[in-house]
Amino acid sequence: MNKIDDQILVIFGASGDLTARKLIPALYNLCKGNYLPKNFIVLGASRTDMTDEDFRDKVLNESEFFAKERGAKNACIKDFSKQLYYQDLGGDYSSSYQPLKERIEQLAQENDIPPNYIFYLSTPPSIYIKIAENLSEAGLTDEKEGWKRLVVEKPFGYDLKSAHKLNEGLLKCFSERQIYRIDHYLGKETVQNLLVTRFSNSIFEPLWNRNYISRVEITNAESDGVGSRGGYYDGSGAFRDMFQNHLMQIVSLVAMEPPHAIEADAIREEKLKVLKCLRGWTPSRIRRNTVRGQYAASGTMKGYKAEEGVPKDSKTETFAAIKFYFDNWRWEKVPFFVRTGKRMPTKVTEVVIHFKPSPKNLFDGKQENNRLVIRIQPNEGIVLNFGMKLPGQGFQVENVDMDFNYSDLSEAEVPEAYERLLLDVMQGDPTLYALGAEVEEAWAFVDPILDAWENENDIELHEYPAGSWGPEAADKLLGKYEWTSPQKYDDDTNH
Ligand code: BG6
Repeated sequence: MNKIDDQILVIFGASGDLTARKLIPALYNLCKGNYLPKNFIVLGASRTDMTDEDFRDKVLNESEFFAKERGAKNACIKDFSKQLYYQDLGGDYSSSYQPLKERIEQLAQENDIPPNYIFYLSTPPSIYIKIAENLSEAGLTDEKEGWKRLVVEKPFGYDLKSAHKLNEGLLKCFSERQIYRIDHYLGKETVQNLLVTRFSNSIFEPLWNRNYISRVEITNAESDGVGSRGGYYDGSGAFRDMFQNHLMQIVSLVAMEPPHAIEADAIREEKLKVLKCLRGWTPSRIRRNTVRGQYAASGTMKGYKAEEGVPKDSKTETFAAIKFYFDNWRWEKVPFFVRTGKRMPTKVTEVVIHFKPSPKNLFDGKQENNRLVIRIQPNEGIVLNFGMKLPGQGFQVENVDMDFNYSDLSEAEVPEAYERLLLDVMQGDPTLYALGAEVEEAWAFVDPILDAWENENDIELHEYPAGSWGPEAADKLLGKYEWTSPQKYDDDTNH
């Protein structure tokens, strides 16, 4: 691992949920693993009036994560808590950041830290630009001494126009090199492993194209409903919330060309290049190739419209399925099918690569085509499915699984996405962060669909029973194929 500079991490919106639930536990795990630099502090900042002690209480003593850690009598917590500080920004985020600057400089001096600062924006996106401008006005973006980095949480824009405006606004205060657009799916080991599976295995790469692959399928399912996030979610919907960012990132890693090196610019350029090859939409293609749905009450589970914060006449989709193509040499005529939804039978994310049939069916019995299943979560791992001869007379073929579980690889636990991502920005490695152009390209692809869904009244919003795999229309999207059912798959392999 590269040496990490001493630094200060300033979290804007630190009184919010993400800080206590994800960021502080991730930093604590990094501290426990001895990954943090020698001199390092976190300065939480937000509009809530709190002291350093209140902040420590809030993010450590009141958090579920730390309740477990304390049970394990971990001495680390005490040391770690001393690294946490808090600054009240006053009434709103737009007042002068001079007091913030003074506090940062004072803490830097007391803790012998050079002016290397990360500003992590975990606030409502509507104030991202304002915060960046204020930081710039206070002279906190200047890199004459020490580096400055800006981390931006999702959602990055609401559509292409707003994402472009956001990029423009941030780029007035920070350079692209300084901006880290976070997508927590890129922090998942198994998502990163897509690169290794593809580019370190000579058995896969020669087959990874239209000649051998018949289709690519991605399922992202959650058993939970929207819970207490109805207010946010209703203005977003499944397509914006999951597809435009997380799933498009997975798609680009599956579809991209090999980078010339495993380094940020090379990988991000290839991802951007492949996104540019996505086939554009016409109104009739949107009608034929996209499906949206909303969960309805079933059994004890309420319907989406009855969730807290959701209007009774909401037209927001909680499920989306889409079929699309890349117009390029590698993927000509290979359909990609992606579905995502809340209130499905289980929580799972899987990529399934379906290979074409062998040229001639020589054996008796039903023969399935080879499948490579990349299990992003849970049971992180990879399964290769292929035909085997059943013992006995004749040549009966049965499809079997060669199954690798991440948990078999090492004793080490699979790190949480935020641990990896925070460590990367602390080291200045943007590989797992999205480029502004990438985000805009993804919006350019989804915008016409969102537009049509919003404005064409005859595009149906299908209801599906909570706890099911979505509306029937999503099955029809696949034509002669069927979605690979992760549940069935689990049953077969006894996981
Ligand atoms: C978030 C979405 O980005 O990702 C949530 O806003 C979703 O709606 C979550 O539940 C899923 O993340 P994970 O890591 O649990 O698959």
